[in-house]
Amino acid sequence: MASDSNIPKHVAVIMDGNGRWARKRGMPRHMGHRSGVAAVRNIVEVAAKRGVNYLTLFAFSSENWNRPREEIRKLMGLFVEALQREVDDLHRNNVRLEFIGARTQLRGGLLDTIAAAEARTRSNSGLRLQVAVAYGGRWDIVQATQSLARRVAAGELEADDIDDAALASSLALARIPDPDLLIRTGGEQRISNFLLWNLAYAELWFCDTLWPDFDEQQFDNALEFYAQRERRYGHTGEQVEAVS
Ligand code: FPP
Repeated sequence: MASDSNIPKHVAVIMDGNGRWARKRGMPRHMGHRSGVAAVRNIVEVAAKRGVNYLTLFAFSSENWNRPREEIRKLMGLFVEALQREVDDLHRNNVRLEFIGARTQLRGGLLDTIAAAEARTRSNSGLRLQVAVAYGGRWDIVQATQSLARRVAAGELEADDIDDAALASSLALARIPDPDLLIRTGGEQRISNFLLWNLAYAELWFCDTLWPDFDEQQFDNALEFYAQRERRYGHTGEQVEAVS
């Protein structure tokens, strides 16, 4: 297993493969999402146990609105049900839960459940769990740009003062360090409009396992991969070695 010093502070996950998992068993797609929730529960527990500080999960993308209406309806219902069922346990385990994404696109029932879960867990000091719903990396950069433009128009900020830090501080994950490790299950090797800005220097780990089958052993494999990486941020390998 990876040693403590090599544990990523922030892990982001693209949970792919629920539909295929269900289809392989002759079940409707939503049963795959239902089993996906069990895998989420498991991975939150393992991440906290391994000493990960931040976990960000891609639950519903901006593009997922293009799915059949019935699948969207069932997924949103599942989010409400899972949140209501799990919030006590998350709270007991000192997890702080937050949502990122275009909240104005969500219905009242889900919004209320999200607000209640965030309020309940706000002062917890353990694992910080971000769930991305109606989220897209491009949406995030656009909303950050709009908020900076509003500040320029209001005379609070000079256009020339907009730099990396100003943009980063207007993004959905403003107060959280960038992910160190991105895990994607389900066999595809792409970012799919997830945290486009924040993943700039993340190590990328892909596996064929379908999300409902993703378990502790797989998570440890990803951590092991991460522990072997040399993170250079544009420096040479020799420079990195000289300071370590
Ligand atoms: C991608 O698999 C998965 C989703 C779009 C939904 C993910 C949601 C969950 C796992 C539930 C999470 C719940 C909470 C409360 C965080 P896919 O449907 O694209 O699978 P496929 O590629 O096999 O079709």
